Amino acid sequence: MTIQPRRPVGDPVVLDDRERLSFRVDRRAYTDDDLAAAEMARIFDRCWLYVGHESEVPVAGSYVARDVGGRPVVMARGSDGVIRVFANSCPHRGALICTQPAGQARSFRCPYHDWTFSNRGDLVGVPIPDGYGPGFRKADFGLAQHRSDSYRGFVFVTFDPRQPRSLTGYLAGATEYLDLIDDQSEVGMEVIQGAQLHGARANWKLMMENSVDIYHFRALHKRYVGYMESLGSVPPRRRGGFGRALGLGHGANELPPAAARPLAYWTPMFGESVRPRIEATAARFVDRFGAARAERITHTNRALLIFPNLMIIDAIAITIRKIDPVGAGQMAITSVALAPRDEDPEIRELRKSHYLTFLGPAGFATPDDIEIVESCQRGYLNRAVRYSDLSRGMDKEVPETTDELPAREFWRQWDRLMHGDDGHLDLAHRAELQGADPR
Ligand code: FES
Ligand code: FE
Repeated sequence: MTIQPRRPVGDPVVLDDRERLSFRVDRRAYTDDDLAAAEMARIFDRCWLYVGHESEVPVAGSYVARDVGGRPVVMARGSDGVIRVFANSCPHRGALICTQPAGQARSFRCPYHDWTFSNRGDLVGVPIPDGYGPGFRKADFGLAQHRSDSYRGFVFVTFDPRQPRSLTGYLAGATEYLDLIDDQSEVGMEVIQGAQLHGARANWKLMMENSVDIYHFRALHKRYVGYMESLGSVPPRRRGGFGRALGLGHGANELPPAAARPLAYWTPMFGESVRPRIEATAARFVDRFGAARAERITHTNRALLIFPNLMIIDAIAITIRKIDPVGAGQMAITSVALAPRDEDPEIRELRKSHYLTFLGPAGFATPDDIEIVESCQRGYLNRAVRYSDLSRGMDKEVPETTDELPAREFWRQWDRLMHGDDGHLDLAHRAELQGADPR
């Protein structure tokens, strides 16, 4: 694959003027079919992309099949216990070798001509083998395996054999937040079985922006805020917390303990009966991590954006959201909930309830978010206004959660990659990273 070091179409898309504190994005970025096609080649074919969580393939033979970056793949734990990511395409003539979304298998049999592959990817069976000449070797027809790696249980793949970064290097400052999430269990985290598959008639980047946008919370989610107030619980303050750029397009928002305490998982809104059990766990965390880090793990809310298309929202419950483009004007969203593996059953039920009532596609928040990103997409049809503005907080040393620093970090990396730049940081960009070391 050749990456052309030039803009794919037309004028600059991201206008980043640090002197005038102006950050604008040309709305073609959300509507233009050529840009959408270029994104697949320059971003999704190159970056490390989230595939799934190790807990989804817990034992030898477990597998999941899903699309990643527009490509069908299988993540399988082989009989040797190793997790691999294979192309879900038969080396013979191309059919999907795995047609179930998840399961347990010693081997995968292609339904077209019954070639059979072990769960380690080796071709182990070919019907009527004497039809092939003497040069035919099964070893030449194993499943194509993609480069994959995991960090704290989160499995990623890259389709670029020349991707220069290790997964940890690619994740840059985002590892700090993945640590805060994975440290919430003493025995490991797990994806709660079942995924919510939904979508929106809007560009995928609108949902990435929305997921790290706290500015809209009280305006757009009035029903939820009103409901919470009617219960005597206090939703996050309009101000407070901080936003961070974590390098290489990743960003986070973090609500501090004082603002987040009423909403944090550890003191559930509707679960006074479980409070003593939660506080006992929190006390053990103080022993494990010290008071300051324990409080950060157990009492803060955070939204983590991992470039290009992974969101982990750790507020009320934890949701992992994979947001995939389907052309310029549509996206597919896969949401799952993450939880401590050994969670108390009553607390698990509370978590699932919180997940569904707020973060789920039919909860208090997500339908508002879907409706508003679709509204933006429709608004772009009137081309009189060319740019969207994402300049909030550019003048601040430590932007708040209601500022737009994580979204700017996303767009700066988007712009670099769309130029064919591999994402090395310029000095001005480093200044806004607030200490995160991207290498
Ligand atoms: Fe898979 Fe022929 S395409 S066996
Ligand atoms: Fe929202």
